[in-house]
Amino acid sequence: MSIHIGAKPGEIAETVLMPGDPYRAKWAAETFLKDVVCINQVRGMLGFTGTWNGQRVTIQGSGMGMPSLSIYANELIRDYGAKSLIRIGSAGAMQHHVKVRDIVIAMTASTISTPSRGFFKELSFAPCADFGLLEKAVAAARAKGTPTHVGGIYSADVFYDERPDLNEMMTRHGVLAVEMEAAELYTVAARHGIRALAVLTVSDHLLTHEALPSEDRERSFGDMVEVALTAAFS
Ligand code: ADE
Repeated sequence: MSIHIGAKPGEIAETVLMPGDPYRAKWAAETFLKDVVCINQVRGMLGFTGTWNGQRVTIQGSGMGMPSLSIYANELIRDYGAKSLIRIGSAGAMQHHVKVRDIVIAMTASTISTPSRGFFKELSFAPCADFGLLEKAVAAARAKGTPTHVGGIYSADVFYDERPDLNEMMTRHGVLAVEMEAAELYTVAARHGIRALAVLTVSDHLLTHEALPSEDRERSFGDMVEVALTAAFS
């Protein structure tokens, strides 16, 4: 057991998918995996291990925001030996050509601050995805036919942003979408020499204010889970 994960040694696979929402972890495990076992219930942050095409995989909720994700990513790596962490989550589009329901695969994640900020002091570290995972995810998404964008995203540390100029600046610099976790995931993974990627579904649009209807969320989320699983094991 680690401080925030109740799994016994060996119960967590080397490949871990990390949705923010623990109930999405449950849904994804029950929908896509076989022989599913619940391996964590501490604080309701559900985690499940099962198999996909015969390969062991864990789906563990990360919670919302970088401080929460950082706890789970650190413990998965340090205490359970995770080698590939793939965030699956939602994002708000910041470009007109990125539409609700599209997939965004995050090559880089810009940020004002991550929980790792103090570690780097004056250095502005550039968090980036593992290229091997990235290219496999792009191939998997293209094969599925889901409209997919690959590029930079913005990991915000507030959802209710009181500084709209920051979002405008991101849009001007070609950033595809905003979410709240990937920059810390990429930074922690880099520090520990493991692979990380964020595969995101666009759930809302900052420029058009469109939002994904709740009845469409499951199907769009499912495409993203399959892209992440295919990238991890191809
Ligand atoms: N995740 C999904 N939509 C978001 C938004 N608009 N801002 C931050 N994170 C998000």
